[in-house]
Amino acid sequence: MGEPTRLVIDPWGETLIKDYEKLFTVFGIRPFKEVLSFFEQPHPLLRRGVVFGHRDFDRVLRAFKQGEPVALLTGLMPSGKFHFGHKMLFEQIIYYQKLGVHIIIALADIEAYVVRRVSRRETIDIALNEYVANAIALGLEKRNLRVYFQSNMTTPYYRAMQMFSQKVTMAEMEAIYGQLSPAKVVAALTQVADILHPMLKEYGGYSHVFVPVGPDQDPHIRLSRDIADRFERELNLARPASTYHRFMTGLDGGKMSSSRPESAIFLTDPPEVAASKLKRALTGGRATVEEQRRLGGIPESCTVYEMYVYHLVESDKDLSKIYESCREGSLLCGECKLMGAEMLRRWLERHQEELERARDRLLEYVEPPSF
Ligand code: TRP
Ligand code: SF4
Repeated sequence: MGEPTRLVIDPWGETLIKDYEKLFTVFGIRPFKEVLSFFEQPHPLLRRGVVFGHRDFDRVLRAFKQGEPVALLTGLMPSGKFHFGHKMLFEQIIYYQKLGVHIIIALADIEAYVVRRVSRRETIDIALNEYVANAIALGLEKRNLRVYFQSNMTTPYYRAMQMFSQKVTMAEMEAIYGQLSPAKVVAALTQVADILHPMLKEYGGYSHVFVPVGPDQDPHIRLSRDIADRFERELNLARPASTYHRFMTGLDGGKMSSSRPESAIFLTDPPEVAASKLKRALTGGRATVEEQRRLGGIPESCTVYEMYVYHLVESDKDLSKIYESCREGSLLCGECKLMGAEMLRRWLERHQEELERARDRLLEYVEPPSF
């Protein structure tokens, strides 16, 4: 109706991005495939196309190859439990950390408070016991790492954020985000400060920063890049690069979200509970066994297969075996789900042992705010 034809992505909404093509054509995100050859041993998430897009990542990778320091900056909003969608981001972080990239992680407690209205105590608790604990258990190391709470940041970060407000208009922000409240303006500018602060001399003065995110966060990337241009001289900022990963589909076919527990498998779910969630998940199977034998399943629209691709099957050979036997109808969903549920159960049992150990080490990784 009155809505203009421009396309707005609301990073705080429940939008399910289905049309990844549009991100290339409308927003100028480039296919990740074109930078894959920079990696000697690309992580499965990179080589399987789960990480599908980027902006300017070629420039960052070229600098990295020449031995220049590179920082990865990303953030998470501690407002719900840690699920397999979050795991995907940490797998990338840990992979880049091993390659020698400097890692900076923002715990977005301010965003959780102002936009999601999570209490201070709760967001701090979630950040530590869900996000930091799981990250450690997944293998995040302390070297080349800085983890911080937004509300704990030091003056130069906040000074830069205040300066940013001078060179951006409401109209411009609303063209990017849609309608804004003061809380969302604060959350957006705080996130811009997250993204750009590693370039400030007080925080390392990196010239090459990249931000791995889901495409729902691209509005923040675009705003950060515009603001970087405007503070090129004054603060010595440069455009950050970014990479984009596909969302995990919820087990019910919607968005995987902490607010709908049945849509997500949490890394703290008792293994049996997780296994039974997987057994109830939406598959690409046919209505009857007879039909599936005849036509084969559709792994492309199967959430169980997605778990294999994103998380459960390391070897590409094993993965393509599952793919083929699904397609040709020799593998049926019942059997396939049993196999997936078993892999998941075993993985979670191991992970949760690590998680217990990780809980004693939280404070080695981050300093929590005093309230
Ligand atoms: N807005 C992000 C989310 O909802 C969290 C976030 C805060 C972030 N600062 C960031 C992400 C900087 C990437 C870069 O999860
Ligand atoms: Fe999905 Fe497996 Fe069924 Fe194929 S056989 S549709 S991969 S559950």
